[in-house]
Amino acid sequence: MTHSSAGYAAHDRATCVSGVMRSRRTVRAFRTQPVARELVEEVLKDAAAAPSGGNMQPWRVYVVAGPVKNILSAAVLAAARAGKGLPPAHLPDPLPEVFRGRMADFGARYYASLGIDRSDVEARARQTERNYSFFGAPVGLIFAIDRRLKPHSWIDLGLFAHGVMISAKARGLDTCPQVSFAPFHHAISSVLGMPAEEVTVFGMSLGYGDLDAAVNRAEMPREPPECFAQLLGFPT
Ligand SMILES: Cc1cc2nc3c(=O)[nH]c(=O)nc-3n(C[C@H](O)[C@H](O)[C@H](O)COP(=O)(O)O)c2cc1C
Repeated sequence: MTHSSAGYAAHDRATCVSGVMRSRRTVRAFRTQPVARELVEEVLKDAAAAPSGGNMQPWRVYVVAGPVKNILSAAVLAAARAGKGLPPAHLPDPLPEVFRGRMADFGARYYASLGIDRSDVEARARQTERNYSFFGAPVGLIFAIDRRLKPHSWIDLGLFAHGVMISAKARGLDTCPQVSFAPFHHAISSVLGMPAEEVTVFGMSLGYGDLDAAVNRAEMPREPPECFAQLLGFPT
């Protein structure tokens, strides 16, 4: 059977999208090479193609570079060191066993890649603080949403953020999504002048990854579809 040229184009597109999605990794060490503003704008246009309930497009994003990024990082670090963060609210207590197991596996791989012993509380705290300087990336993003919206609109924000990460990857850039900014909404909103109705949901580092850095070589495995999906009603 021969493929039509449209068939080849669709196949090439699928291979290309699949390659980008499966090769994206969270990157936590970056080169100093700056990211052009035009490139950031293209990434944001791609991400804004995300679907959203009722096309409400509830995403808000602050993109910081240069001195603004440095001021933001310093403010969050100061708030963290002064113990001024909100208690982390993104995980339930207790965390169900299945998730606790995966998180423990993540921690073991992450700290092993850094040569940090898991019992070394100080070294782990220093590594956590590196979040606030966007792991040395030249660009930082803060994702926010109108706090009056319901959880379904937060899904839209997540879809938008995934678009940022995939578009960035396709353009040779790397990212690290970071919930660790969420407890510091107060410090972040003062630096960025956010309106009162907005809440910080997470941050993200953006730049050219330092692929020689050991921390960027940690493999984070995924469960195969048979572990999370049920395919029903297909002919066998
Ligand atoms: C919403 C969200 C928040 C995250 N927060 C952090 C964070 O604060 N710091 C960090 O180093 N990684 C953070 N990560 C990255 C995850 O640890 C990473 O996505 C996961 O281990 C899978 O690895 P991979 O992205 O390389 O496939 C976050 C990821 C997501 C999606």
